[in-house]
Amino acid sequence: MGQRKKRAEITAVGHWVPDRVLSNADLEKMVDTSDEWIRTRTGISERRILESGATSDMASKAIMNMLQNRGIGPEEVDLIVTATITPDMFFPSTGCFVQNKLGAKNAVAMDINAACSGYIFSLVIASRFLESGTYANALIIGAEKLSSIIDWEDRSTCVLFGDGAGASVIVPSSGPSKLLAFDLGTDGGYEKLLFIPGGGSKNPSTKETVESRMHYIKMNGNTVFKTAVNKMRETLNKSIKAAGITTDDITLLIPHQANLRIIEALREYLDLPREKVFVNIDKYGNTSAASIGIALDEAREMGLINRGDIIAFAAFGGGLTWGSAIIRY
Ligand code: ACO
Repeated sequence: MGQRKKRAEITAVGHWVPDRVLSNADLEKMVDTSDEWIRTRTGISERRILESGATSDMASKAIMNMLQNRGIGPEEVDLIVTATITPDMFFPSTGCFVQNKLGAKNAVAMDINAACSGYIFSLVIASRFLESGTYANALIIGAEKLSSIIDWEDRSTCVLFGDGAGASVIVPSSGPSKLLAFDLGTDGGYEKLLFIPGGGSKNPSTKETVESRMHYIKMNGNTVFKTAVNKMRETLNKSIKAAGITTDDITLLIPHQANLRIIEALREYLDLPREKVFVNIDKYGNTSAASIGIALDEAREMGLINRGDIIAFAAFGGGLTWGSAIIRY
């Protein structure tokens, strides 16, 4: 953790999700599950699926409208930080594809892999470049085509995830709006709670790794659940303290949308009323790094946040990684 005098602020937000809806009823026809089980255990009713194209296509669409609304030309962008666990390819980075699709020819692009904590990690990393005076603006993007790494025969994971992208523009703060505090954490000892064992340098793709479905997400959902609640509580407490605020000051908590029961446990712990906690998991499922960016833009569209409001973000994901941030919007 580290808080500095010079800060960065979020000045624009955008998101994009594919049109194709995959409902719980659709999943009932694919695996042994039920709409009732999925809704009561997770809060998810449907999710979006990208039928053609790659992660960078969704990321670029989330950004284009946002830049246009904000009057920023692509060639003015200095830095692009893309958070994803579903890159278009191993390399080049997805950020490179995004840069090219946007025509952001003066930007430097990089990817961050922090799973579901990716939006918060990107926010902090990009902010530091702005606060140090290295760059004048940055795009942060969480974008995921999780449908490409889901085992559609594994009912314990395939019902949970969806595709989408959320993006924000960050600039050095010139007024009260700013990143007030953050906390980030990782524990690589939990690697096997949530991972893709095959396809990387440890277990390169072979006929055998593919036949044994090692290229799909594996998860110990129960342990992830318990660890998620604890880590999100701890990290939020640290950020709230570092920002010098109380939970009463929070206008809206935007948690990573992994499971409604995780969000509820966090809400109860913080003693926040329901209307102060943003939830859209019912429509999109868990979109990993994309979830907070999508939620922030939807909260803006719904008129739930105004300039000057205190917004808290909290996330948790594979790695394990976790993080929180408090901003004055
Ligand atoms: N439909 C019907 N039954 C199912 C399904 C399904 N889709 N999936 C599992 N079950 C069954 C199990 O087989 C088990 O049956 P059994 O009792 O006969 O053995 C029963 O339901 C209960 O299974 P649990 O795993 O104990 O269910 P739980 O209440 O823990 O819910 C869930 C599972 C939803 C996965 C939950 O553990 C969870 O949300 N975990 C957290 C996931 C998460 O937060 N991931 C975040 C990060 S994602 C990232 O970083 C990319």
